[in-house]
Amino acid sequence: MTSGFGLDDWYPLALSAAIEQQTAIPVSLFDQELVVWRSVDGSVQLWEDRCAHRGTRLSLGFVRGNALHCLYHGWAYSAQGLCTGIPAHPGLVPPSGARIRSFGCVERSGLIWGRIGAETARHPEQAWSAFHGHAVPVRSIACHRSADKIHGRLSTFQVPPFGAQAGAQIQYTVQHAGAVVSVDAACDTGAEETLHLGLQPAGRDTTILHALVAGPDAGDRPAAIRHHYSRWLERFRWMVENQG
Ligand code: FES
Repeated sequence: MTSGFGLDDWYPLALSAAIEQQTAIPVSLFDQELVVWRSVDGSVQLWEDRCAHRGTRLSLGFVRGNALHCLYHGWAYSAQGLCTGIPAHPGLVPPSGARIRSFGCVERSGLIWGRIGAETARHPEQAWSAFHGHAVPVRSIACHRSADKIHGRLSTFQVPPFGAQAGAQIQYTVQHAGAVVSVDAACDTGAEETLHLGLQPAGRDTTILHALVAGPDAGDRPAAIRHHYSRWLERFRWMVENQG
């Protein structure tokens, strides 16, 4: 486990925009393999990525309506994690033990959040409140360094606002709120944007950053904004992986 990031805490696991209705994706938290899926009603679930039948990854499966189906033999699981149907035995009531271990999962501020530790873990209100106004999802990017390392290096990460002119004076402010680091950049010309980075400790030496950008004009040119910040995130990854 990563020292500064507790197992019981809540962490961002994906950009909301990355999980459409009736889709499932694999995620990892502290090396635990998990699946996040979204049902047709828009709700999200976080489960162990392992079918109760023969252990096939459920993230390979498919979502129909409000149920996740295993790809191998088609067992269907309700949003509560209970097996509700076995195609090979259509008349059989699935045994009560046929269920999937589920974890806390909520959607806030453009991110899917989950926790795999104690159920008493408090929601990360402080991190959620760091997001002001509408934020444009940029991308998720994996860095092969620990969450502690990434967290420390982000303290000095400076990204000019999109469209900042060469030579502009830029004031940077970095704020830490749980698993979110927010880098605000304000130009003397008036342009200002905040890059929010949610840290997901995927494994001992792998951290995934989920990036969103907020600012008065951030929603006007989302594709260009994404391109701008995406390039800077790739620079950051190169820096942290190659320069320690
Ligand atoms: S392994 Fe999932 S239904 Fe058989």
